[in-house]
Amino acid sequence: MDKLFLVANLKSYKTQSEANEWLENFKIIRDSKQNLTQKEIIICPPFQLLFTFSSYIKENNLPVKLGAQDVSPFGEGAYTGEVNAKQLVDYCNYVIIGHSERRQYFKEDDDMLKNKVQSAWSKGVIPIFCVQNENTFMPEEVSIVAYEPAFAIGSGTPDTPENAEVVARSIRSKKNNLKVLYGGSVDSLNVKNFTSTDNLSGVLVGGASLDPLEFLKIVENA
Ligand code: PGA
Repeated sequence: MDKLFLVANLKSYKTQSEANEWLENFKIIRDSKQNLTQKEIIICPPFQLLFTFSSYIKENNLPVKLGAQDVSPFGEGAYTGEVNAKQLVDYCNYVIIGHSERRQYFKEDDDMLKNKVQSAWSKGVIPIFCVQNENTFMPEEVSIVAYEPAFAIGSGTPDTPENAEVVARSIRSKKNNLKVLYGGSVDSLNVKNFTSTDNLSGVLVGGASLDPLEFLKIVENA
């Protein structure tokens, strides 16, 4: 059976002390009665907290992986303010690329996103590439796609699981072995509706993951 991907995108939230509190609460995942071997739990904190999350996860032996929320389209060099893939690989297995908030507020275009994907791949960081629908451009190297319709993000109104399934099937028809996740107003009450479909391999969770206990419930209910 394929693993179910449960991704927490903490966006631009959490200070150092709030992150410590999040982790202290989330730690009870170790006592989970569930068999978590079939669940790939990925937490994507903001850059400044990657070290904190990474150290805590190792010290406490938590069954989770880390992802970043973005990566530089360039390698190392004189690019003020950027964090490149070689720097991420110390902490992260994954990186979210092309989130609609990056496209909207930071004007990231297809060329830039392609460079980000290639840069991540070249250092062994796996992109989780966000698309808004089945027609969004997708770089060749992508193996995990997150279908995130803009209307559903942070709105409390998710897409229907039926429509998400149709879009996921269409995305998957473009390439072999593509995994498609759904994102947009997922919570512990609706997660199963998405994860029980045939073509979705998991969810990307924003707002609901800010509360560690709610994210734990999402992991359990998925
Ligand atoms: P949301 O965000 O769960 O708060 O809707 C999802 C996302 O932006 O990835």
